[in-house]
Amino acid sequence: TLTQAEKAAVVTIWAKVATQADAIGAESLERLFSSYPQTKTYFPHFDLSQGSAQLRGHGSKVMNAVGEAVKHVDDIRGALAKLSELHAYILRVDPVNFKLLSHCILCSVAARYPSDFTPEVHAAWDKFLSSVSSVLTEKYR
Ligand code: HEM
Repeated sequence: TLTQAEKAAVVTIWAKVATQADAIGAESLERLFSSYPQTKTYFPHFDLSQGSAQLRGHGSKVMNAVGEAVKHVDDIRGALAKLSELHAYILRVDPVNFKLLSHCILCSVAARYPSDFTPEVHAAWDKFLSSVSSVLTEKYR
């Protein structure tokens, strides 16, 4: 679980990220699919070319869910319960992929807000995304 200071850091950087959430979401997916092309196999029904409407739409959904987790940082499990079931039971996304996407979100945020991305913010954001990933993969067990 996150310390009070880590939660505060997550909330602060999210206030900035939220203003460009759609673009950051799309960029994170572009990074995911270009650096880790095996992840594209989950999206055979998508047009994954750069800037496609589906990529942008999906990036927006993903970041919306991240925003819900920020809003409910003390109950991420409750906030993402439906999504957790979706990813485990319906989509069956291998848990390793969550680390990859988290990394790509981290990179997109760092690239956009370099001066805000201090080592403390980096560590807090990384820990937060890893909590989100744990919640989204815990139903597999
Ligand atoms: C769908 C969030 C990780 C594959 C979704 C949706 C959201 C979401 C909000 C839409 C659900 C709906 O339409 O009701 C997240 C979050 C993640 C994450 C917050 C981690 C931070 C992943 C990963 C993969 C993945 C790592 C695979 C590489 C999918 C697929 C869909 C989906 C295939 C369905 C797309 C469609 O057909 O519209 N996810 N996801 N997700 N997610 Fe994730």
